[in-house]
Amino acid sequence: MADLNDENIVQGLFSFLNEYIVTHFKAEEQLMIDYNYEKYEYHKKIHDEFLNTINKKIKKYNNNKSIEIIYSIRNQVSKWLVHHILNVDIQMKRFYLSIHE
Ligand SMILES: [Fe+2]
Repeated sequence: MADLNDENIVQGLFSFLNEYIVTHFKAEEQLMIDYNYEKYEYHKKIHDEFLNTINKKIKKYNNNKSIEIIYSIRNQVSKWLVHHILNVDIQMKRFYLSIHE
């Protein structure tokens, strides 16, 4: 089990992660709205589901302080981001470029 100092670091990282994700998603979603992106609903749903999953895991960690949940969050965030950028965000980029060519 983590001591109080480690716990403060963990909670700080959770706050940073949540704020980073929310800020990044909102900026991306606003761009989709501004450009009337055809897959906005689909893309936003993926964002919402991911945020929901991470917040559930953070809540689960806060209930039992299991280090395995931290590893799980770390693995999920890194894998999800790479997959999302390469497979979903890139579609938005293609759309943006298609209307600016
Ligand atoms: Fe995205």
